[in-house]
Amino acid sequence: MSAEQNPRSRENMSLLHEILVTVKNVCVAYFVSFYRFFIPQSPKSVFGDIVLITGSGSGMGRQLAVEFAKRGAVIVLWDIDKEGNNETLTIIEDIGGTAHSFIVDVSDRQAVYRTGEQVRQEVGDVTILINNAGVVTGKSLLESPDHMIERTFDVNLLAHFWTVKCFLPAMLRRNHGHVVNIASSVGLVGVNKLTDYSASKFGVVGFTEVLNYEIVFAGYDQVHTTVVCPSYTKTGMFEGCEMRFPAVIPPLETRATVEKIIQGILTNQHQICIPRLVYVVSVLKTMLPTDAMVEIVKFFGADKFMDTYTGRK
Ligand SMILES: NC(=O)c1ccc[n+]([C@@H]2O[C@H](COP(=O)([O-])OP(=O)(O)OC[C@H]3O[C@@H](n4cnc5c(N)ncnc54)[C@H](O)[C@@H]3O)[C@@H](O)[C@H]2O)c1
Repeated sequence: MSAEQNPRSRENMSLLHEILVTVKNVCVAYFVSFYRFFIPQSPKSVFGDIVLITGSGSGMGRQLAVEFAKRGAVIVLWDIDKEGNNETLTIIEDIGGTAHSFIVDVSDRQAVYRTGEQVRQEVGDVTILINNAGVVTGKSLLESPDHMIERTFDVNLLAHFWTVKCFLPAMLRRNHGHVVNIASSVGLVGVNKLTDYSASKFGVVGFTEVLNYEIVFAGYDQVHTTVVCPSYTKTGMFEGCEMRFPAVIPPLETRATVEKIIQGILTNQHQICIPRLVYVVSVLKTMLPTDAMVEIVKFFGADKFMDTYTGRK
């Protein structure tokens, strides 16, 4: 029996072929990624896109809404805070943009589905979904009341499941869309006294990774996912917190963080770490012994970061 006729040998040949193709594709992906680092992709147009942003009543959500409105997108504002959301609506209308405000508690699954249907009928199919709403307990595990721990997971993580189930099907039908999940740098490297918050953000990172697999393996090449991992940004969410070396690693301004997020979304980046140092620290974490990380965390004052937390009043 010749080698081609032998089923075992045919199987080995096809496995070898598969390995070579995989290695080639991995190299191409690496090369493209390296190239894109120096020569970024030109930003996509979002003119006419319907962009839904949760937590649009303040901070990054508001700024993101304004930036997308400036670029000609129709904005759907979702927040539990009526006053804040209406302020965002007014800002957008004042600059000549188009926005629709909805008061929704994203931790309420039925409210998400109900309001999602209302958006579909009154505005249209959402093409860019930005899961941005978030809350923080700001206490150590033993000091955190159970209901606040549950609320953290409901708002920061589970809500993503409901919104994505609500809006992804229409994106897939048209093979056009983008799901953006705002996690955090503490979703990659934990910070003391943020057990629930950090765990929920680790969840968002994992959720986005697998969501991307589900979309890609189902054959959709124009539905994108992005997970965003910013470090401390002065929006008011972490009011009172202090970094040990603010001159070396200063807290980020909301505008600067949002600029990077917009840039990443418009170039279909899978993961956006702000600042880039976050990539380095997350790689370091996987290589160093835990005790070494404890020393580094202590040196940079991340052990005491939450001690002065007062939160948004
Ligand atoms: N500020 C930071 O340092 C920082 C760093 C990394 C990641 N993040 C994340 O960025 C996102 C935006 O945070 P921010 O700093 O702009 O905070 P923020 O407090 O200014 O905004 C959060 C918004 O979410 C809304 N919200 C809270 N619970 C809600 C609910 N149940 N339903 C609907 N809306 C709800 C709030 O009303 C608020 O408008 C959050 O997911 C946060 O975890 C923030």
